[in-house]
Amino acid sequence: MDDPTTFIEDAIEEISEQVGDRRVLIALSGGVDSSVTAELTHRAIGDRLTPVYVDTGLMRKDETAQISDTFDHMDDLRIVEAQDAFVDALAGVTDPEEKRMVIGEQFIRTFEEVAREVDAEVLAQGTIYPDRIESEGNIKSHHNVGGLPDVVDFEDIVEPVRELYKDEVRQVARSLGLEELISERMPFPGPGLAVRVVGEVTREKLHVAREATHIVEEELEEHEPWQAFAAVLAKGTGVKGDNRVHGWIVSVRSVESRDGMTARAQELDWGTLQRIQSRITGQLDDVARVVYDVTHKPPATIEYE
Ligand code: XMP
Repeated sequence: MDDPTTFIEDAIEEISEQVGDRRVLIALSGGVDSSVTAELTHRAIGDRLTPVYVDTGLMRKDETAQISDTFDHMDDLRIVEAQDAFVDALAGVTDPEEKRMVIGEQFIRTFEEVAREVDAEVLAQGTIYPDRIESEGNIKSHHNVGGLPDVVDFEDIVEPVRELYKDEVRQVARSLGLEELISERMPFPGPGLAVRVVGEVTREKLHVAREATHIVEEELEEHEPWQAFAAVLAKGTGVKGDNRVHGWIVSVRSVESRDGMTARAQELDWGTLQRIQSRITGQLDDVARVVYDVTHKPPATIEYE
């Protein structure tokens, strides 16, 4: 991409031409890719765009409220509360790829219902270049690539940021005037907190992952990592007050990267790490231990599953 302003003009024109007078549906995730895609599409076709946000119960803290605020200017914004359906569908599932499949299927089912109501012919997706590469290489089955258009019967698909890297999408977001919360936001995986909980997904583990991730994001914002979060690993022994407890082990991960395909664990100072540790163990009764992940990608992946 040479220049974001020209990219935006061209993208709007291209979307208008491709869509014609049809209706378009987009699934919002709160991330920069789908937000930019929605904004470009809205500028191209206005209220013939229906943005849909599914609250899967696997999202970041306060995500739903933030989405409502940010996309308030799009008349047909739909928010679907589906937390119980997702968590129930994940009961007993421990294999990472099976988790992705269950989430993908549940997502399609939820999305299909809205699609039927809206009767849109076209689907817009915020697929970016690295999503396609990783998906082709089959490193992980990223569920935002493929799948959706096959199952839901759309005539056409619009992917305006398909050739861009994440840093380019951010430039476009700034140029579109999207708020900083979105343009500078760390990437968040499609399957959400489910891949930050090792093993079975439960409401309790999701709560720990959500609150701890929020603390990590706040504490590390000024360090500008590509991605920083907390994952829930397993239970271990600790001492809280006068008692020995069997509490969660939380791993803090903060990485630098350009596109997520490779990454370096970020070097953080002891004071910062200790502040994160004391906030997490202080605010979350069920956490007994916090560790910092020093592994680069490769050999580790960024997410835990
Ligand atoms: P990994 O863990 O594969 O992550 O090193 C690379 C980047 O991709 C994100 N990620 C996903 N995104 N669906 C997504 O949409 C997925 O299943 C998924 N798994 C990982 C991850 O957050 C990182 O930015």
